[in-house]
Amino acid sequence: MPIQRRIGTAAPLGACVLLAGCSGWQSALDPQGPQARDLSTTFWTFTAALGLVWVLTMLALALALWRARGARDAPLESTPRPQGRAIIVTAAASGATVAILFALAGLSFAMQRRVTDAPPAGLSVAVTGYQWWWHIAYEGPEPAVGLVTANELHLPAGVPVRIRLASADVIHSLWVPNLFGKQDLIPGIDNAVELVASRPSVLRGQCAEFCGLQHAHMALTVVVQSKAEFDAWAAAQRQPAQPPADDKRRAGQAVFAARSCPVCHSVRGTDAAGAVGPDLTHVASRRRIASGLLPMTRSALASWIADPHAHKPGVHMPATPLEPHDAEALLDYLEGLT
Ligand code: CUA
Repeated sequence: MPIQRRIGTAAPLGACVLLAGCSGWQSALDPQGPQARDLSTTFWTFTAALGLVWVLTMLALALALWRARGARDAPLESTPRPQGRAIIVTAAASGATVAILFALAGLSFAMQRRVTDAPPAGLSVAVTGYQWWWHIAYEGPEPAVGLVTANELHLPAGVPVRIRLASADVIHSLWVPNLFGKQDLIPGIDNAVELVASRPSVLRGQCAEFCGLQHAHMALTVVVQSKAEFDAWAAAQRQPAQPPADDKRRAGQAVFAARSCPVCHSVRGTDAAGAVGPDLTHVASRRRIASGLLPMTRSALASWIADPHAHKPGVHMPATPLEPHDAEALLDYLEGLT
């Protein structure tokens, strides 16, 4: 294939690959709320204005080079008329530059005020960053009070939400690009973001501040639901775990209790009250485990429990080698935590 044809084939393909990253469930260019829409508008206005400046500059450069083509007898000798015109052009360009800079600075300032000036929150959620997962506690109003979960943030569509941010160890940063900009979680400092998610969708957030070995595997699933669906979800999540329904699950709960699991994990309604790792009361209702790294499937759970370090080197959870029948019973128990 001739090189031109190869480039002709590869260029649109490359453009598709690049643009594919600009939409979807983790993209600031696919805004799903007023705050993200303001940020997106700011981004595109800056891109358009600065792109136009670049194009005009390149055209002026091309024009200057074209007009200066050919050798002159005395290239360094100045002539009064072109010099006078150059002063006018330079002054006009400087004036335009200052005007554009002030306009963009004004836009940036106005958008920042709009983004941080959210309506009064109808729901408050405390999100705490741990190496490397997210602790989520709903603070009110009813029926969300007392609801604790991990790594999967549910939000009611159209309801202003205040997300309070804290860290249990190092600095993290919460970023759900479809909803808002990055906001740091800093040990000892109260931080917050206020936002509205416009419509039901499933989005992906990501820790955006390097926080150690598994920073890249500190993802957050964000599920935006209708108010009725959110209320139903919250009511179910607020319940303690259902007692195991059969012998195998009871055996699984005994395995869970006998191993080191309850030292770190809580299962509300049982004696397991660890506060170091994610709350597991309704773990099987979540879409993913290991802070977004693995799907919530039996095989992924089995593999994660047997050797979490194979998936997430440096993770604080120890490997838990189990006899096959104990492992199966434990998996039955965990899958029953819906
Ligand atoms: Cu937490 Cu990066």
